[in-house]
Amino acid sequence: MNLEILLLAGDGIGVEVTREAEKVLRHVAEAFGHSLSVSRGLLGGAAIHRHGDPFPEETRKLALEADATLLGAVGLPEFDNAPPEKRPERGLLGIRKALGVYANLRPVECYRALLACSPLKNELVEGADLLIVRELTGGLYYGAPRGISGSGAEERGVNTMTYTRAEIERIAHMAFQLAQKRRKKVTSVDKSNVLETSQLWRRVVTEVSAQYNDVSLDHMLVDNCAMQLVMNPKRFDVVVTENMFGDILSDEAAVLAGSIGMLPSASLGGKRESGAWTGLYEPVHGSAPDIAGQNKANPLGAIGSVGAMLQYSFGLVEEARAVSRAIEEVLISGRVTADLRPSGPPATTSEVGDAVCAALAVRAASA
Ligand code: IPM
Ligand code: MG
Repeated sequence: MNLEILLLAGDGIGVEVTREAEKVLRHVAEAFGHSLSVSRGLLGGAAIHRHGDPFPEETRKLALEADATLLGAVGLPEFDNAPPEKRPERGLLGIRKALGVYANLRPVECYRALLACSPLKNELVEGADLLIVRELTGGLYYGAPRGISGSGAEERGVNTMTYTRAEIERIAHMAFQLAQKRRKKVTSVDKSNVLETSQLWRRVVTEVSAQYNDVSLDHMLVDNCAMQLVMNPKRFDVVVTENMFGDILSDEAAVLAGSIGMLPSASLGGKRESGAWTGLYEPVHGSAPDIAGQNKANPLGAIGSVGAMLQYSFGLVEEARAVSRAIEEVLISGRVTADLRPSGPPATTSEVGDAVCAALAVRAASA
């Protein structure tokens, strides 16, 4: 198979974690006999520096042409006070919208080897395995009107939370279909005791559930969900929710996995002729400018995102499985970065990438 990938390192630690992710991707391609062509583009702060635009036209073109896009992270403190359209984050919102990747899958897996890393009691976390399905191209992030206007006491900031039936239906179908391949349980999270968008959300998700008799559905208010995630995480299988709630809950859920550096994500849009998904793959962690360029960042979220890409955009299930097994082996070996609090001296970003490649190589040789 020929894999045409766009690589967008972005800002901060995005650069170093995607370097390792690319290394792993090359290893997998070689071991399994696929050819790989990688193009590169700019997004976020790096793109503002070069083009004055966080999502340049050239990047849009490359993303639309590629089979799949692998992204590091965006965001730099120097833009903290810039207007929204000149912020790196706008580049990320731009590419998500341009690719139409409306479903953001954020699996939270609690590896046994990392149990001690979670600040939660081990018995609460052990065996937790959930998938957050975050709606990614609607809601407060994109709703209009938006902006800041007026002056003095009347100066006003506005954002709009809006969802159409069609937007809710497609993410609900995605959640139910994913649940069918897991433990067959969907929890839909909203704030329907206050928000009209949530009332519509709840009604439409319930309607869609009638088409999935093998999957159970429950509804939970987002504030309660925030609490249940740390009190009883094992009660969750698939969690489906709107954009902003999903953003917040997925950071919270990261504590279950021991470190946000562990979390991969896949953002999926429509299906292509080949039957594979249009996809954007990125670790959930941000650009972490405070540790950028120090070879300290955990690359496993980015490497896990490569696994997700192989699975969803190319249907290469065996290859994806090889990546997750290699990750698990590296975790067990203890050669991990500082965020995972190893007992010995922490490994560097590149050492972790090398260790994953070595684990892959051993498996390929013995296969
Ligand atoms: C995420 C990030 C982004 C988001 C930011 C960087 C715009 O927090 O992917 O979770 O809010 O979607
Ligand atoms: Mg976030």
